[in-house]
Amino acid sequence: MIKIQIPATSANLGAGFDALGLALTYYNYIEMEECDKIDITAADGLDIPTDERNLIYISAKDLFAVCGKKLEGLRLIQTSNIPMARGLGSSSACIIAGLVGANKMLGDPLTKDDLVDLAAQIEGHPDNTAPALLGGIVTAVFDGRKVHWVKQEVFTKLKFVAIIPDFELKTEEARACLPKEVSHKDAVYNLSRAALFSASLLTGKFENLKTAVDDRLHQPYRMALIPHCKDVFDIAYTHGAYAAYISGAGPTIMAIVDESNQYFAGKMKFSLDNAGLKGWQVKEFHID
Ligand code: HSE
Repeated sequence: MIKIQIPATSANLGAGFDALGLALTYYNYIEMEECDKIDITAADGLDIPTDERNLIYISAKDLFAVCGKKLEGLRLIQTSNIPMARGLGSSSACIIAGLVGANKMLGDPLTKDDLVDLAAQIEGHPDNTAPALLGGIVTAVFDGRKVHWVKQEVFTKLKFVAIIPDFELKTEEARACLPKEVSHKDAVYNLSRAALFSASLLTGKFENLKTAVDDRLHQPYRMALIPHCKDVFDIAYTHGAYAAYISGAGPTIMAIVDESNQYFAGKMKFSLDNAGLKGWQVKEFHID
């Protein structure tokens, strides 16, 4: 059996809608091999699709097709730690698992760049799929066929604290609420902040991150779908976060925190409980 570990991802990073993303030290584990039927099991007992609708299977089949082969069947054992529909890249993790696993089965005919491109074509945007494959903090521009990407230097001085609510939000719903057009002013607002985010991370100017994650393309609309979102941002800033943003399409909120802020997660959980948000989990990660 081929064994694969794929990280959770956090996309957008505030103003970098559909372009910025990072991989977290939080993983799904997959074992797979080609066989003559579809045989899918959840090692953790989770309710996952076990037929041809399984996204790992679909992606593996896509890769076989690109290489001119037919995937007859797949034996798959899935351990899915990344929660679904929470803005932590669970779908992208499945897509990347399918592509990486199928590529290994065929003796690695496709390059890493091929896989990044194929994953973006399947998902429609590259900001979860690219870091899930490449690791690190990734800036990725998808031109409809190819992804032009850069993997940035990783600062060990930072930790990423996921504040995960007890409800799901499907990406389709969180994309459907966005406007079809935005003003020139809002476009400038975002592009300047996305550029500031990358440059500030790269140079360690973390005091810029609070301004850099502010955006006008998606967060103001999605906040309406995430009850208490603004309160959670405020609590994170009270406890010294450099930045707080909606992770991917939400509903998870991510706080970027200095490594020296030792008790941030504990303080966050205590404040959330006090605010009546007892179902929310707080999990601390680093960059994969
Ligand atoms: N950039 C995507 C979005 C990430 O915000 O909709 C979620 O797939």
